[in-house]
Amino acid sequence: MRDSTILLSSLGVVLCGLYVLRGDSGTGKQLDPAAWGSDHVGKPMLEYVTGDECLFCHRTDIGPFWSKNRHQRTIREPEPDSAALAALKKPAELKSLADDVQLLLGAGNHSRFLKKDSSYGKLDLLSVTWDRSGGLHKTEKPHWDGRKFADACAGCHTTAVDPQTRAFSAVALDCYTCHGSVTLDHSKNTQLIHLSKKRHDPASVIASICGQCHVRTGKAKSTGLPYPNNFVAGDNLFRDFQVDLSEKALQALSPADRHVLENIRDVVVLGKEETTCLSCHEVHKQSTKKHRRLLESPSCVTCHNATGSKKIRPAYEVHSHTCEY
Ligand code: HEC
Ligand code: HEC
Ligand code: HEC
Ligand code: HEC
Ligand code: HEC
Ligand code: HEC
Repeated sequence: MRDSTILLSSLGVVLCGLYVLRGDSGTGKQLDPAAWGSDHVGKPMLEYVTGDECLFCHRTDIGPFWSKNRHQRTIREPEPDSAALAALKKPAELKSLADDVQLLLGAGNHSRFLKKDSSYGKLDLLSVTWDRSGGLHKTEKPHWDGRKFADACAGCHTTAVDPQTRAFSAVALDCYTCHGSVTLDHSKNTQLIHLSKKRHDPASVIASICGQCHVRTGKAKSTGLPYPNNFVAGDNLFRDFQVDLSEKALQALSPADRHVLENIRDVVVLGKEETTCLSCHEVHKQSTKKHRRLLESPSCVTCHNATGSKKIRPAYEVHSHTCEY
């Protein structure tokens, strides 16, 4: 399984290379994002090495950052001083629901409340929402929803969702979601693992890995769900996951989502391979410092003014229909 994955992804490199040549030839021709590589739609779920096992060897290089990483914290037990849970405990009529909360979703400005479901790999989602600036919302008719999380959220906030049962194998995002199915031989040859320094994954593979969750306006053709079907790092996301990458669709988004889709469009439709998410983001350090060193390009004005100091940036609010905030 592993060998064939590697073979297919190197085939992806070759195919991609050909497409890039065509994309750059000045004909203005658009590439078919679905044209390269393969996917795991309809195939069995893969066994994966868990984060605990990875951190046994990577506890000094990755461990200290990982416990604070928003990917690993997206679903977690509430901190003792959680402002969201404190707010939910306040109104007398919500007290009994608050007592049932076992997990929080969202490590930034918005939070949701979860409790374990009686069936394996499932969570119940509370209808009441919380955000840092406005506190609690949707407090009328508060209830636990036993289906919504699996149908609408699990694929991007948990690890390895079984497309048949929609049950996840672990809450929050494990190493597998980005690094894929890892062989322990990578310790001797790091080219065997996605996103290693030596591997030089093609831009379209990186766009697929990050895009599997950061495209919040797409839909899987095979399931109709807003998250991908059995995606494994190295796959071509865009064979099954459909997303409107037109200028009109992009302009409707806030800079937070727009710059993501712009980069993905540049890579998978326009064949521009030089800039990926990783040109600007260091995932483990949670830093965007290195983006300051890039050359000026049209994508900069998504967040910066066209002229004047980069220090002054237009403010924006982020909303997501998919994430219900
Ligand atoms: C399996 C889903 C998933 C994958 C794959 C994924 N992300 Fe994320 N990412 C998330 C979620 C969910 C959050 C928000 C977590 C929260 O706040 O609860 C997030 C947050 C972020 C943030 C904001 C927080 C921060 O660290 O500053 C950045 C930037 C980011 N991701 C970049 C990336 C990049 C780059 C990749 C590809 C290498 C990637 N992500 C892959 C789901 C994913
Ligand atoms: C297609 C993948 C995807 C799906 C499906 C999805 N999310 Fe998200 N969610 C993300 C990503 C990516 C982020 C981080 C976005 C960012 O930081 O810009 C996020 C962030 C969040 C946040 C934190 C936002 C903040 O600013 O703090 C919450 C809360 C959230 N999602 C709730 C949900 C809920 C509830 C559902 C289901 C109804 C859901 N999401 C479905 C990908 C997804
Ligand atoms: C959200 C995506 C994502 C997840 C989840 C993730 N990684 Fe990474 N990892 C990356 C990216 C991207 C790089 C390339 C360097 C960078 O951008 O930080 C990387 C690089 C690394 C490196 C190389 C060292 C370095 O800093 O360059 C190691 C080791 C590593 N990851 C281990 C892990 C382990 C162990 C886990 C789980 C505990 C994990 N990663 C989870 C995206 C991820
Ligand atoms: C038996 C020990 C061991 C285990 C378990 C292990 N690794 Fe590694 N890993 C190594 C060694 C040794 C290297 C090569 C030296 C280095 O770069 O840290 C390495 C390298 C890497 C790199 C490439 C670093 C680079 O050069 O860019 C990544 C990414 C990585 N590991 C991720 C993971 C992930 C994800 C897991 C779990 C799925 C994992 N490792 C499990 C020992 C291990
Ligand atoms: C040209 C550089 C650049 C590229 C390319 C880029 N980003 Fe970003 N991104 C940034 C900067 C800078 C921020 C702002 C960080 C902040 O607000 O402190 C950001 C913010 C984000 C956020 C948080 C948004 C929010 O406000 O909630 C997410 C999530 C994210 N990027 C994901 C991605 C993903 C996934 C890709 C690739 C598809 C990508 N980015 C490509 C520079 C870039
Ligand atoms: C997603 C939004 C986003 C995009 C896209 C983006 N930036 Fe930024 N930029 C920011 C944010 C937020 C900061 C402040 C935090 C930081 O440095 O990451 C910033 C800071 C900077 C700074 C430092 C300004 C100072 O404080 O002196 C420079 C220079 C810069 N950006 C250049 C660029 C260039 C060049 C591009 C295009 C290649 C670009 N940015 C694209 C959001 C963005």
